[in-house]
Amino acid sequence: MGTKTMYLSHRPRRLRRNETLRRMTRETQLSVNDLILPIFVRHEDRAHNPIVSMPGQYQLGIHDAAAFAEEVAAAGVPAIILFGIPETKDAAGSSAWQTDGVICRAVQAVKARCPELCVITDVCLCEYTDHGHCGILEKNRAGMIDVHNDATVEALVKEALAHAAAGVDMVAPSDMMDGRIGAIRDALDAEGHDEVAVMAYSAKFASAFYGPFRDAAESPPQFGDRRSYQMDPANGDEALREIALDIDEGADIVMIKPALPYLDIVRRAVEEFNIPIAAYNVSGEYAMIKAAVERGWLDEQRTVLEMLTGIKRAGASLILTYWALDVARWLNS
Ligand code: PBG
Repeated sequence: MGTKTMYLSHRPRRLRRNETLRRMTRETQLSVNDLILPIFVRHEDRAHNPIVSMPGQYQLGIHDAAAFAEEVAAAGVPAIILFGIPETKDAAGSSAWQTDGVICRAVQAVKARCPELCVITDVCLCEYTDHGHCGILEKNRAGMIDVHNDATVEALVKEALAHAAAGVDMVAPSDMMDGRIGAIRDALDAEGHDEVAVMAYSAKFASAFYGPFRDAAESPPQFGDRRSYQMDPANGDEALREIALDIDEGADIVMIKPALPYLDIVRRAVEEFNIPIAAYNVSGEYAMIKAAVERGWLDEQRTVLEMLTGIKRAGASLILTYWALDVARWLNS
């Protein structure tokens, strides 16, 4: 091959020749500052129960969750989001707003040990209702049992206020009821919690990828599914309308969930709105990679860093991921 014949005017490979050049031209930097770690907390003081469908994740007792949070903070992860497994469940999900319930006690325990860690709570009823739905059930006009929107919003407001009184930094309503962001924002302000931020699960899709989470949080719906409140995976324009409503109602951060099948929504949201966008790399996205890693089919670190970089490149400035602590350690080393 004569070099004479090769007069290429563009040689993009020039800037890929070595790591120094690649570092200089890298467009997206995944940082520990982007990460939020979900933690499952049980009502007992002590527990360390492995979650079978999420290898490496545990339901932790309140004491153990606080100790773990300290480790997470020490690794540089800025935030955690807490999910509660309560002692009792009922039709209304009333253990969700008990001031001595699992989440309120966990918030106090974590804040006492690591005041600088941003503590976020998931605000929803599905972990607290005996039927596993995200709200209060009633017969609708067609005579079918469905989640009643406005009664549920009232309950969510009580839950958010209980978390705020316990000292949470940010509440994250994940129920998908209409109007809940405005109602929660108003109630927080009225009770003097104007500093508590709201991260809205704005575009939360009715996804098969939540399967492992429902084991982890012991919250599978006992009948039916969540499609009367979570979004149809086919809908992108509607996702943007949901996000616009939540911003209008006072959300500080909006979230898209799950992440991987919905990166187009992340990109569209970033282009449309000037507000921090979070993406939730959910339990099923965790489980499928873990399962392939266990079989030796994928390299965990490379796969996870590539995936999270992709989520960030799509436009998410925050990523909720069960790998947050691992990633902090990988990035630090
Ligand atoms: C509660 C809630 C769910 C998840 C976060 N908050 C489950 C659901 O809606 O069924 C899923 C998180 C995950 O899968 O990692 N409503």
